[in-house]
Amino acid sequence: MKATLVIRNICEMATPLGSSSRRGSDMGKVHVTADAAIAVNVETIVWAGPQSEMPRIEGPAPEIIDAGGRAVIPGFVDSHTHFVFAGFRDEEFFWRAGGLPYMEIHKRGGGIANTVRSTRSSSLEDLVAVGAPRLERMLELGVTTVEGKSGYGLDSVTELRQLEAMKILDARQPVDIIGTFLGPHSIPPEFEGKPGAYIDFVIRDVLPAVRRHGFASFCDVFCEQGVFGLDDSRRFLEAAASSGFDLKMHADEIVRLGGAGLAAALGATSADHLLKASGEDLDAMAAAGVVATCLPVTAFILREDYADARGMIDRGLAVALATDLNPGSCYSHSIPLAAALGILYMRMSMEEVLTATTLNGAAALGLAAGRGSLEAGKLADILILDAPSYRHIAYNVGMNVVGTVIKRGKVVSVRN
Ligand code: NIG
Ligand code: FE
Repeated sequence: MKATLVIRNICEMATPLGSSSRRGSDMGKVHVTADAAIAVNVETIVWAGPQSEMPRIEGPAPEIIDAGGRAVIPGFVDSHTHFVFAGFRDEEFFWRAGGLPYMEIHKRGGGIANTVRSTRSSSLEDLVAVGAPRLERMLELGVTTVEGKSGYGLDSVTELRQLEAMKILDARQPVDIIGTFLGPHSIPPEFEGKPGAYIDFVIRDVLPAVRRHGFASFCDVFCEQGVFGLDDSRRFLEAAASSGFDLKMHADEIVRLGGAGLAAALGATSADHLLKASGEDLDAMAAAGVVATCLPVTAFILREDYADARGMIDRGLAVALATDLNPGSCYSHSIPLAAALGILYMRMSMEEVLTATTLNGAAALGLAAGRGSLEAGKLADILILDAPSYRHIAYNVGMNVVGTVIKRGKVVSVRN
């Protein structure tokens, strides 16, 4: 066996296994190995298991990292964020704290529209400059792959600019970025009261340009009362699918419209939020293999009831946990907080949370074949925790328990 890097003296290696999403009771079947080692060749894991069984390394001596009796897990995959945006909306946080609902702020022309104004007046360089430090902070928290959405332009130029900023950032720093075109995130002022006409415009003028530039893998829509209804959402997603995009949805977050059922009918890769999704629609998602992405930090900040992750897992769904980092409903990229909320308020087990933030996050991006677990053939995206057990991920509420981050076989972040 050839290796460029060996991580040894791991007191506990914890990982889900497999090359696709783990569903239902399989989500809890995390593989835990005591006294483990991992061998990496260039950017790929070539061996992971009990240290005493590691095959001999042939050829040049590898770099050795001594984990010093700490726990090791796969890199986190944050499969739902809106991390490229300009400006802040701190005032809305306090309005909501005072009782004003999120959708009421939206109706009064604040909310997403507010961020659209500042993002439209930002250059490509500005957007790269706001995205870069956010990615650095996420990497320190152990995020090795992140999804990022457009949706703060709502015009052709700014939507493309947001996605281009992500392409530039992807090439410049270690975190892998998966772009999602979220043109139908809100109705821009130019189309006020005319969601259908805006969808026509997006399908005709923006979608083909996003395709041509190769800026995004996914298309997404904010399917919600007062934003885009089921018919407009379907029309956009069908056009996106026939242009070759994979699909995501913001579904059944505030009001039960049946977005989860639409995601199932269209074979979306994931449906996200799902606070109000019906049992029938969740069953349809399970049957169609749609990943259910729960965003508990958003529910926490909006003071909404949490999505029923326990019920989803018991129905046989694959649940992913993500942060939803955005300037409005969730100004937080805290995977550790999401993990703790998963345990405390969504009745997930620690093992299910680990699967939901790694392998199932990768599955929500169509990437589970190549990352999201610690096994031969997967990308070497590996976290050494400042803790003896993976259980500390949730136990350290909101604090960072990640010490060393290895991305594609290279040490990219060390916290002392
Ligand atoms: O996922 N719900 C719609 N989109 C975002 C919020 C965007 C914003 O408020 O800026 C979300 O919560
Ligand atoms: Fe979102």
